[in-house]
Amino acid sequence: MLSGKSVLLIIGGGIAAYKCLDLIRRLKESGAQVTPVLTRAAQEFVTPLSVSALAGTKAYTDLFDLTDEAEMGHIQLSRSADLVVVAPATADLMGRMTGGLASDLATTLLMATDKRVLIAPAMNVRMWDHPATQRNLAQLQADGVLVVGPNEGDMACGEFGPGRMAEPLEIVDAIADALGKRPLSGKHILITSGPTHEPIDPVRYIANRSSGAQGSAIAQALMRLGAEVTFVTGPASAARPVGATVVEIQTASQMLDAVTAALPADAAIFAAAVADWQVIGQSASKIKKDSKGSLPRLEFAENPDILSTISKLKKNRPSLVVGFAAETDDVIENATAKRKRKGCDWILANDVSPETGIMGGVENQVTLISADGAEDWPRMPKADVSTRLAAKIAETLT
Ligand code: CTP
Repeated sequence: MLSGKSVLLIIGGGIAAYKCLDLIRRLKESGAQVTPVLTRAAQEFVTPLSVSALAGTKAYTDLFDLTDEAEMGHIQLSRSADLVVVAPATADLMGRMTGGLASDLATTLLMATDKRVLIAPAMNVRMWDHPATQRNLAQLQADGVLVVGPNEGDMACGEFGPGRMAEPLEIVDAIADALGKRPLSGKHILITSGPTHEPIDPVRYIANRSSGAQGSAIAQALMRLGAEVTFVTGPASAARPVGATVVEIQTASQMLDAVTAALPADAAIFAAAVADWQVIGQSASKIKKDSKGSLPRLEFAENPDILSTISKLKKNRPSLVVGFAAETDDVIENATAKRKRKGCDWILANDVSPETGIMGGVENQVTLISADGAEDWPRMPKADVSTRLAAKIAETLT
């Protein structure tokens, strides 16, 4: 996502500096080059050696280092990257940035740079709430500085509230946004997820064991690439994807209504395990056992096929419609036929026979079936399936 981009990472002196080690690793995984700079205080929390080893390059610390100046002057250093990132941005660093001080290498670089600056503040909650910090924040934003976080939560100092530095992956996303590198920015993607519940009476229902984990993981992977996600979910146990517009429904009919209301979308992914049938004439009050011991009889009607309905829309059909097919026999043949029958563009097929260990396991092995044929993906962790699917969608939509 960030290949060919370089980041000048200024590490401030706060306990969150330890997260910068992971941030550097994540940035490198995304293809970015990282040039690290540590303030004097930062070196109390992480060493230049560990930072430099992870970045695979020199870590700069001192304004008056003659060797550094001979190799690369600080003015050149301040302009060598595509983006300057300050993480953690402490109250002190924010104050010095606002005041335009150039009292050490970090603040001199921030004054001399001609590139955009992104800060990830981290400090005690009272320091964050302090009028001076809030004043500095407003001024920095007015000066065009970008901000990610801070998040709310338990803090290293034992207090709770806003002040925790954004997580490394959130910072990577903010960097990608700042560099205009998120391939799905501006795209709206609709996802169905989880089981549906089909009521029998006010207390009983028909359901299935879907946890909704795959749908949530796909939503997260797409949002990481910049997509705006509408997530229509049945009563699933998996955590809802943070940042998505979440629509909670119970039944298949409600799911179809919610999906239709969420259109238009650039792509739609149908990961829900929708109940195939609903109970006809569900009782308005709880069905009681009768004294003669006669058993209740349930009658069923077929539920709407949401994937098929959306695939066959004349108006407002998303340009990419993706379904799933969990099969136990003749996986490719069945899934290929399902793709044609339902009219979607891709089907992700997998073999859920017990001997594969896929159902309820951590890994998955899928075959992507499209008009071009079947593409076997290697067996991999389920989270990686989502990442690969998101990358493939980004390739197709852009
Ligand atoms: N699906 C849907 N609405 C339904 C049933 C299924 O949107 N009422 C979607 C699922 O979300 C999935 C795909 O259709 O993406 C395939 O689901 P599956 O249960 O495998 O298909 P069925 O049509 O129920 O076929 P089968 O006869 O294999 O059960």
